Amino acid sequence: MYKLDQNKTPIFDSLMKYVNNNTIPFHVPGHKKGIGIPDDFKNFIGENAFKIDVTVFKSVDSLHHPTSSIKEAEELIADAYNSDYSFLCINGTTIAIQAMIMSAVSEGDKILIPRNVHKSITAGIILSGAIPIYMEPDIDEFLSISHGISLETIETSLKNNPDVKAVLIINPTYYGVSTDIKNIANVVHSYNIPLLVDEAHGPHLIFNKKLPICAMDAGADICAQSTHKITSSLTQGSLLHVKSKYIEPSRVRQVLNLLQTTSPSYIILASLDCTRKQLALNGENLIEKSIELSNYARNEINKIDYLYCFGEELNNGKGFFAFDPTKITINCRKLGISGYDLENILSTKYHVQLEMADAYNGLAVGSFGDTKESIDSLINALKEISETTKGKTLKNFSLVLPKIPEQIYSPRKAFQAQKKSIPLKQSANKISGEFLLAYPPGIPILCPGEMITQEIIDYIEYIKSIGLFVQGTEDPKIENIKIIEQN
Ligand SMILES: Cc1ncc(COP(=O)(O)O)c(C=O)c1O
Repeated sequence: MYKLDQNKTPIFDSLMKYVNNNTIPFHVPGHKKGIGIPDDFKNFIGENAFKIDVTVFKSVDSLHHPTSSIKEAEELIADAYNSDYSFLCINGTTIAIQAMIMSAVSEGDKILIPRNVHKSITAGIILSGAIPIYMEPDIDEFLSISHGISLETIETSLKNNPDVKAVLIINPTYYGVSTDIKNIANVVHSYNIPLLVDEAHGPHLIFNKKLPICAMDAGADICAQSTHKITSSLTQGSLLHVKSKYIEPSRVRQVLNLLQTTSPSYIILASLDCTRKQLALNGENLIEKSIELSNYARNEINKIDYLYCFGEELNNGKGFFAFDPTKITINCRKLGISGYDLENILSTKYHVQLEMADAYNGLAVGSFGDTKESIDSLINALKEISETTKGKTLKNFSLVLPKIPEQIYSPRKAFQAQKKSIPLKQSANKISGEFLLAYPPGIPILCPGEMITQEIIDYIEYIKSIGLFVQGTEDPKIENIKIIEQN
C-alpha cells in the first residue's frame, strides 16, 4: 500500500555509518561523541546516544537544505502519512504550528481560529501579523471541557466573514474528541481557502482505521502533529504535512528555516525516522493494543463509584463527531474532588502521573507504551481513591462566559504596544495588553488587543470569589491588569 520501501531509515543509517567508520570528530558538539560528557549523566544515559549527537555536515545531510538522507526520510514520511510534502520539526509542534500559520497568512489577513487555541497558535498569529476571528468550540457542561468546532459553526463563521484567508481547527482535542473534519474541509475549500489543522494529538490516527479520520485523509491542506506525544519519537520531534493547492511547500521550508535552530538534534531526527518505520510497518497492531488496553481501562473506571470515563456515548454528530479511545479522561466531579486533587493524590500517594488535570477531570494518555500492569495500577489506585474520598462535595459554578469582546488591535500590534498596569476593577473600556483565561473551561475571556468590558471584570471577580483558577496576567492575584497605553 505504500509507494516507497518503509523498511528504510536513511537518517539513522547515515549516523550509523558515521559511528561505524570511527570518524574522529573535529566538529561541535564539544563533548566529541560523549568523551567530554559528565560521568554521572553518561553513567545513566549510556554511551551510544552521544555518538550520534552530531552537527550538520555532508554525510548526515542538512535539515534546512536537505539533499540526501533527510530528503529521503521526509519523502518516506510523506508516503506513510498520505501527504505530498512532509517536514521534520525538532522544536516541537509549537514550531510546526507557527510555520503552518506563517505559510498560510500574512500581515492583515483574517484567519478563523477557535477561541481556545494552544499558545503556539497565538504565537503564530503574532508572528504572521494576521487578524484572528474567533469561533466558539462546543462545550460539555458536565465535564466542563471544550470539544471541537462544529461544522455548523464553521459554516456560519465563513458566511459572516467571507474575506478570511484561512481556517484553523484543533482536531482531535487533547481529550481525543474529533469534529466532522471531512465536511469542514469541503466547506472551507468551497471558499477557495485552506484548512489548517493543529493535529498535535493525532499523529497515530492514520495507522488504525478504528480511530477518527486524520487531517490529511480528510482533505486538510496542512497539519502539524506531535509525533512525540502519542507515538514514540523523542520529545520535541514533530511533523508538518502539506497536501494543498493553496500552500506552497517551498514557502513552508522557508518559514521553517526562519524559525528552527541551525543546530538540529540528530538524535531527535533519527528517532523521527525510526518511528515512521515502526508505525508504517507495525502501527496498526501497536495501536490496536493501545485501543484495547484503553477501552479496558475505560470500562473498569466506569465500574468505580463516583468516577466517569467518557467515550462514544457523547457523540452528538457536531463538536463531538468521532472519538479516539486511547484518551482516558477520568471525571471525578461526583467524587467531590477536583481533577487537580485527583492528579495530586495519584502522583504523591501512588506515583502514577497523569498527563493533565482540570477542574473536574484528570487525563491519562494511552499509547502502545502501556502494559496491562500499568493500566491495572491506575485502576487500583482509582478504586482506593474512590473508597477513601467519597462523601465530599465540590462547588458548582456557572459556565456562562462573557461575550467575546471587541478586538481593537491585532495580537501583533498588542504584543508590540507600550503597556501599563492598572487595577482590574478600574479597567473597563481600556484595551487589554494581556490574556485572561478562566479554568474551566480554559477558554480566554480576554486576549491582548481586546476591549475590557464591565461584564468581563464582574465575571473574573465571580470566578475568583468561588475559588476557581484565573490565569494570564503578570499579577498572579489578578488584581491588576496591563492595558495598552494609547497616545
Ligand atoms: C493542541 C496543542 N497544540 C500544540 C501543542 C504544542 O506542541 P509541542 O509541545 O510539541 O510544541 C500542544 C501541546 O500540548 C497542544 O496541546
